[in-house]
Amino acid sequence: MGNNKEAWGSRVGLILAMAGNAVGLGNFLRFPVQAIQNGGGAFIIPYLVCFLLMGIPLLYVEWSMGRFGGKKGHHSTPFILGAMDKRKFWKYIGVFGIFTNLAVAAYYCYLESWTLSWVWHSVKGTFAGQSQEQVASFFGNYVSLETMEPIIFWVLCLVLNTWILSRGLSGGVEKVAKIGMPLLLIFGAILAYMAVTLKAGEHGAKFDGTMGLNFLWTPDFSSIWNMKVWLAAAGQIFFTLSIGMGSIQCYASYVRSKDDIALNAMSAGWMNGFVEIVLGSAIIIPISVGYLGIDTVIEMTKNGGLGLGFKTLPYLFQQWGGTLAIICGLFWFGLLFFAGITSSLAMGTPCMGFMQDEFGWKREKAAWTFGLAVFLLGLPTVLFFNYGVFDEYDYWAGTVSLVVFALFEIILFAWVFGIDKGWKEITEGADIKVPGIFKYIIKYITPLFLGWVFFSSLPNIWSQIKNEAIDKQILAATDPNIIEQLKTQLMYVNISRVGLLLVWLGVAYLVYIAYKKRIKEGRFL
Ligand code: PHE
Repeated sequence: MGNNKEAWGSRVGLILAMAGNAVGLGNFLRFPVQAIQNGGGAFIIPYLVCFLLMGIPLLYVEWSMGRFGGKKGHHSTPFILGAMDKRKFWKYIGVFGIFTNLAVAAYYCYLESWTLSWVWHSVKGTFAGQSQEQVASFFGNYVSLETMEPIIFWVLCLVLNTWILSRGLSGGVEKVAKIGMPLLLIFGAILAYMAVTLKAGEHGAKFDGTMGLNFLWTPDFSSIWNMKVWLAAAGQIFFTLSIGMGSIQCYASYVRSKDDIALNAMSAGWMNGFVEIVLGSAIIIPISVGYLGIDTVIEMTKNGGLGLGFKTLPYLFQQWGGTLAIICGLFWFGLLFFAGITSSLAMGTPCMGFMQDEFGWKREKAAWTFGLAVFLLGLPTVLFFNYGVFDEYDYWAGTVSLVVFALFEIILFAWVFGIDKGWKEITEGADIKVPGIFKYIIKYITPLFLGWVFFSSLPNIWSQIKNEAIDKQILAATDPNIIEQLKTQLMYVNISRVGLLLVWLGVAYLVYIAYKKRIKEGRFL
């Protein structure tokens, strides 16, 4: 066995760390934007259906797979999957569970570092007295690297993550979750209260805060037939619950073999649901709709929506007056920071677990190696942000990979490992009675549903590979400078795609070496 003697310190710590893993920037930045882009109330029904038919079943599956692999001393998906079926194929499917974490961490940590910087600027009063355009151009200049500041905050953020990871699960990750999660809930509740009670005419607001909420929460059944909305909802469920990633399996592999996973999985999953559905929908949407109206907000999120959180909210907070603006800025970006860091820490653990288990590395060495890898892989997203590299990573690693991995994983669990054995794993040591219907959902509905999501995304994936969207823009453009810029973008996008592929292959190669090493040493596979 390797050097890996990690364990969780307490049950509360485990649940908070798992909830922290799930609750991330996805809940506060991605969810509202997805909801707005997909018609508000039209989004909610597919979202909830996906939560029940894919989210919850996959949580059970991933937690139980993790604990199962952990019993045999495996803490990363190549060998967790490998323990469930002898065929070599599964170890290579498990590569996704390391690759995705590396590649998502590479762009996620950059985003996370913005929140630190924005905390600093909110407190320093940078946005005081600025017009909406000025706040927006502050963002534009930032990501164009007009100064060194973004790099400094980014490196700071990486070092912080790495240092916490090097302190281990109970000594690092768990402590951060125990402080970060409660603070996040408090900050979120205060901001949500302010947003929902926003009144038209007060502090320059045009509409009541509740208007935004109604837009989101008035179900519109017409969307049931719209594939695009379903795919967006499925993608959001994956991202927000961190399923199809490998990080849940890794966290769960450190649960003791007789301990409950059923109740733990539900606690963490529903806590994430609560934070997303209640807090995630009650801050950014009511405030921006209150000031700008629904149409403007929809327009602003057409080309991605990161802007709302960083470009618009700091300006809108200013309308509430000096001190309040500082406090709200601190709460909002502080909340985002805690949401982000508890998730990025989770992305570090599968890679570390792999190196500790397979190559006998010490925790510190594994952590700093992960930090370095994220730095190298993240550098293009920082340097070429304006050329779409960030979005390209998000598309392949943060969207497509999750669905592909989850699809294989559920087939392995329900059909190869076998649902009867699987069900025993889920219910063993359970502190709640898992409704029997989930046995059928996991066996039939979730795989079919996932297969459907995957196959209906194929045209979209193909069009992405062919760069249809950028090509269209090039054709439509008349200004030679813009055409030039788009062509450069095309180049960076293609290079980053090849880069990601190489990372996947690199991880697969390490898995191959680890496998050979195990055979040579006669270690239990
Ligand atoms: N679930 C996190 C979020 O909502 C993202 C995440 C993905 C975290 C993968 C860990 C692993 O932001």
